[in-house]
Amino acid sequence: MAVKCVISLVILVDLLNTAVTFKEDQSHWLKTGEEELTKALNKRLIEGTAKNVILFIGDGMGLTTITSSRIYGKGEAGHLAWEKFDNIGVLKTYSANKLVPDSCSTGTALFCGVKANHKTAGVDATVEKDDCEASMRKNAQLDSIISWAQDAGKSTGFVTTTRVTHATPAALYAHVPNRGWECENKIPTTASKCKDIAKQLVEDMPGKNIQVIMGGGRQCLVSSVNGSDADPIDTWSCYSTDGRHLIEDWKQDKAARGLSYQFVTNNRELENLDTSVDYTLGIFANGHLKMDYARDKGPTGMPSLQNMTVKAIQLMAKKRNGYLLMVEGGMIDFAHHRGHARQALDETIAFSNAIEKTIQITDPHETLIIVTSDHSHSMVLTGYPDRGSGVLSYTKSEIDLMPFTSLLYGTGGPNNYQFEATNGTVKRQDPSVNDTTDFAYSQQAVVMTDEVTHSGTDVLVFSKGPMAHLLNSVHEQTYVAYVISYASKIGPFKDKNTTNGSKKCNRGIFYGVGNHCLRNDNPFRNFSYLRRAVKAKR
Ligand SMILES: *[C@@H]1O[C@H](CO)[C@@H](O)[C@H](O)[C@H]1NC(C)=O
Ligand SMILES: *[C@@H]1O[C@H](CO)[C@@H](O)[C@H](O)[C@H]1NC(C)=O
Ligand SMILES: *[C@@H]1O[C@H](CO)[C@@H](O)[C@H](O)[C@H]1NC(C)=O
Ligand SMILES: *[C@@H]1O[C@H](CO)[C@@H](O)[C@H](O)[C@H]1NC(C)=O
Ligand SMILES: *[C@@H]1O[C@H](CO)[C@@H](O)[C@H](O)[C@H]1NC(C)=O
Ligand SMILES: *[C@@H]1O[C@H](CO)[C@@H](O)[C@H](O)[C@H]1NC(C)=O
Ligand SMILES: *[C@@H]1O[C@H](CO)[C@@H](O)[C@H](O)[C@H]1NC(C)=O
Repeated sequence: MAVKCVISLVILVDLLNTAVTFKEDQSHWLKTGEEELTKALNKRLIEGTAKNVILFIGDGMGLTTITSSRIYGKGEAGHLAWEKFDNIGVLKTYSANKLVPDSCSTGTALFCGVKANHKTAGVDATVEKDDCEASMRKNAQLDSIISWAQDAGKSTGFVTTTRVTHATPAALYAHVPNRGWECENKIPTTASKCKDIAKQLVEDMPGKNIQVIMGGGRQCLVSSVNGSDADPIDTWSCYSTDGRHLIEDWKQDKAARGLSYQFVTNNRELENLDTSVDYTLGIFANGHLKMDYARDKGPTGMPSLQNMTVKAIQLMAKKRNGYLLMVEGGMIDFAHHRGHARQALDETIAFSNAIEKTIQITDPHETLIIVTSDHSHSMVLTGYPDRGSGVLSYTKSEIDLMPFTSLLYGTGGPNNYQFEATNGTVKRQDPSVNDTTDFAYSQQAVVMTDEVTHSGTDVLVFSKGPMAHLLNSVHEQTYVAYVISYASKIGPFKDKNTTNGSKKCNRGIFYGVGNHCLRNDNPFRNFSYLRRAVKAKR
């Protein structure tokens, strides 16, 4: 009944697109409480080894983004894919030298287990930004979960909606003192000894042994590519002009080593790829992939994160030793930087869709799934908007009676900074003259910067599968790499046994929290007393 009631309310909201009175009664909340209690009491801690690990990174997906995306895509009572996971922890995201970090230093923390300096990838904190010499010292270079997994004989891969050479994926396989060095064109002559990120991916370990690589970034792999409206160049980023063709080089390397390989460029080719092939490179765009709402979904268009993820899992699942896959919803961050909140929410839903499908096609007893973010963003959700008004709505200031949107940014570019001087006073623009629900609408920011900047608040980490319960407290971001190491027996903790021979229920599966074996006839599973209590109150 309660469920039906919620669904019909949601439909009503969609149809009328106006505020409605929500009338969940006491019994609704009691029932919700009972469902949540039952779930918590029946929580199963899965022990044993994680044969496979899938690490999902929602780039820039802070808690405000999660809440707002939930309301936007599922309604306030709904759930994003990872919000049903049993295990939730908190990660501290500060980098070696910044309270508010960038994606490259946080990628290094998550993947290599060591905090790095701002805008550096795959190197420790002895390497300052732009210090080429320091970054080339072997003992400053870090191994990532990708190297650990390869050493353990696992298949490795990554999927992203950004350029495959962008900050987050780069931290998996490259060692650079500047994340901008995606191709040769951005490396200053004073640092010419350093190898760009694209070359490291194709020529060096562990990049050349990654079985599945999917994303954008042709402009960093192939010299002088030509953009179009359907497939633009990212003009702010590296653009290779040295005559190289690293996609051909990638193919030649596989051919020379007698490995089977395939290269795919669009939806049709992704759909038809051969899952028995060992190495797959999918480059679907010159720059980043287009936003999910804007991409061409036809055969020659760019794929969804969900479809790339499904194919990657199908390609890797055949490996006897298991696999390690990183999946990045990279355009959540990009949308926030440009100050377009709705795009960020929409990309978060696309990210959730990829995870929902992943849960359906993987076995929770052998696959550890971790969903987290590298850092947050300066967006807030505020102003006491009514239930049902939608998160893209606006309310009014009691002071100047000027409307303001429920989502606002702390910092933002010129489109977000909407103050004007009229008649000697500063006035904030009126957002109600614009369509604040439009994908292209720019929410207002307090301070003008070149673009919206990250937030330094903690991020959440959600996990399920073998040893997922190790992520249940406030942790350093670096801890994620070590949980993966311990759970899947790769890297530094592959042989570590810290358990105390604690008691086990049902062959390694615990019922209940910690070491408590809760049986099905446990009295706490009976909620009659709660129902009676409410009846008595009436
Ligand atoms: C881009 O266009 C120019 C001029 O039409 C052409 O010479 C060049 O080969 C093109 N580049 C690529 C990578 O196709
Ligand atoms: C994803 O792939 C399926 C087939 O596997 C295809 O039917 C669908 O159109 C694709 N979806 C998107 C959003 O590209
Ligand atoms: C500007 O301020 C003056 C003095 O307060 C006032 O008389 C005038 O109407 C104002 N003009 C506008 C356009 O608000
Ligand atoms: C709102 O609309 C006005 C008038 O069309 C336009 O000048 C302004 O750029 C718009 N603001 C935003 C944030 O879209
Ligand atoms: C192992 O158990 C002993 C005795 O219960 C306890 O003193 C010790 O702290 C435990 N060690 C760990 C690592 O939990
Ligand atoms: C780990 O240590 C516990 C307690 O000493 C022992 O019971 C268990 O068999 C060990 N597990 C492995 C994999 O060595
Ligand atoms: C729950 O409690 C009620 C009343 O105390 C009792 O009648 C019922 O059998 C109990 N159910 C279970 C499953 O223990």
